[in-house]
Amino acid sequence: MTTTAATDPGSRIQLAVHRAVRRDTDRLAAALAGGDEIPVDAVQAYWAVTAAQLHHHHELEDTVIWALLGERLGERVALLLARNAEEHQVMAAAMDEFDAALVEIATSPAAARQALERMQGAIETHLAHEEADVLPLGAEAFTMEDIAFFRAEDAKTNSPDAFLPWLLDAAPEDDLTFFTSAMPAPVRARLDSDWMPRRQMAVEGLRRSVAATS
Ligand SMILES: [Fe+2]
Ligand SMILES: [Fe+2]
Repeated sequence: MTTTAATDPGSRIQLAVHRAVRRDTDRLAAALAGGDEIPVDAVQAYWAVTAAQLHHHHELEDTVIWALLGERLGERVALLLARNAEEHQVMAAAMDEFDAALVEIATSPAAARQALERMQGAIETHLAHEEADVLPLGAEAFTMEDIAFFRAEDAKTNSPDAFLPWLLDAAPEDDLTFFTSAMPAPVRARLDSDWMPRRQMAVEGLRRSVAATS
């Protein structure tokens, strides 16, 4: 797992999204880890948010962010971006398998745990590759205007009430500062009064499952 702190805004955003994905799969693994008293509804609802955000992240990368990197750096990154796109497909397939296993989780929890483990492996392989090999190229190739464009494109199909509480849940202090410092006051107010408390309820639902099965 990469722990390098981001020094450019594009990498900081990428690493914040990746951190949120790892956080969620770790929490799901903890929730599924023991016993038979898994609260199916809470697990499925929690995973639905993770899956939507992860699919969105890949789609934005494939169609906007890494597509522009390919335009900027050309043949030099062709093989790297081909690997990246293939890993996105491998992850999507692993996510579909976990989706299917969750449908049967009440009667086959072991299969869901195995599917989650496979999916975590696919996710970690990709995130580690992207962080080691692709993010540094983005830091080199993208301007601040590009980063602003990516964020605007992202927001078109990922509303702030969905994205921000997911991203900022348990985020380190410097990420909180980065993402909230230029936030319009009404958005910040909704984040604090509504969106984060709602997110916390979903997190507590999973934690209750861990307590019930430990
Ligand atoms: Fe990424
Ligand atoms: Fe990616």
